Amino acid sequence: MKVSLILAIVSLLSAFSANASLDSSIKAKGKLYFGNIIDGNTINDASVTNLLKSEFGAVTAEYSWKWPRIQPTRGVFNFQESDLVLNWAVANKKLIRGHTFVWHQNIPEWVNAITDKATLTAVIQDHITKVAGRYKGKVYAWDVVNEVFEDNGSFRNSVFYRVLQEDFIDIAFRAARAADPAAKLYINEYGLDAAGPKIDAFLALVGRLKSRGVPIDGLGTQSHLILGMVAGVPAQLQRLANTGLDVAITELDIRIPKPVNDAKLAQQQLEYQSVIEGCLSVSKCVGISMWGVSDRNSWIDTTIPAFSAPLLWDNTFRRKLAFTGVDAIVAN
Ligand code: XIL
Repeated sequence: MKVSLILAIVSLLSAFSANASLDSSIKAKGKLYFGNIIDGNTINDASVTNLLKSEFGAVTAEYSWKWPRIQPTRGVFNFQESDLVLNWAVANKKLIRGHTFVWHQNIPEWVNAITDKATLTAVIQDHITKVAGRYKGKVYAWDVVNEVFEDNGSFRNSVFYRVLQEDFIDIAFRAARAADPAAKLYINEYGLDAAGPKIDAFLALVGRLKSRGVPIDGLGTQSHLILGMVAGVPAQLQRLANTGLDVAITELDIRIPKPVNDAKLAQQQLEYQSVIEGCLSVSKCVGISMWGVSDRNSWIDTTIPAFSAPLLWDNTFRRKLAFTGVDAIVAN
């Protein structure tokens, strides 16, 4: 038999095998998506995009939808790279999580320099109106504000909080609702994975937002986790869900303290499984997004260099134990 014929038969057989994707498996369990990130650095890399196409049902832009890329100078909007992501997602029928409007990090200097309430209010409203308006009807959910708390539960000393106090959150959510009424509006935060002052402050804020009638639909827990520190995740997910709002795991990775070894990779598999099970067991948890496909492209090695190997595929795009573990949980 010719090799090409054998290959054709093999690929036909595998198409009919029970080899469901992470996304289709999690959907069969009642969730909306299993997602991941994409951006200009990966959109032309077939080893990344093939996995995004085959395994995932939602995408978030890793960087290009953030403020400095889109509006580097006041009134000057640049949608070149963000449109690439949007168009890729539409062409490949992926849900889109929009990330993010108001964040203390990665904001242009001209925004940081604003000192009066009226200007900052107008600037927030204008940015959100333009960006959410451009992508109106195409974005499943927006992370309207990101990381507003310090780890001790106090508000972060950002330009937004300094000038407008808590009001900046109301302003941002109201502008987003007006610009794209169909999009789910999320507040997104890291460090909600264990009991403590941060999640307490977060939940108290959510209560105040709801009582003021601020249009908030969902709570995003980033879940940038550290190996050995994930045990609290299921219980905290349940606390988030008890607000009655949607909950999403928005930026999942589990980073390993260097040196990476087989024992730690095996532990990572178990810890991924407990996080995924946590979402599956909380009905309000609508979906999970990974913050990267392969360890090769992860933000961890550059940003938090004492750690490595946080994702489901290794540097050479081979499935890790973490992948097998996650796949087993969603598929069974
Ligand atoms: C990170 C990206 O991964 C980096 O490429 C970029 O340089 C900085 O931002 N919390 C967030 C994400 O909400 O937007 C961050 O993403 C990771 C931490």
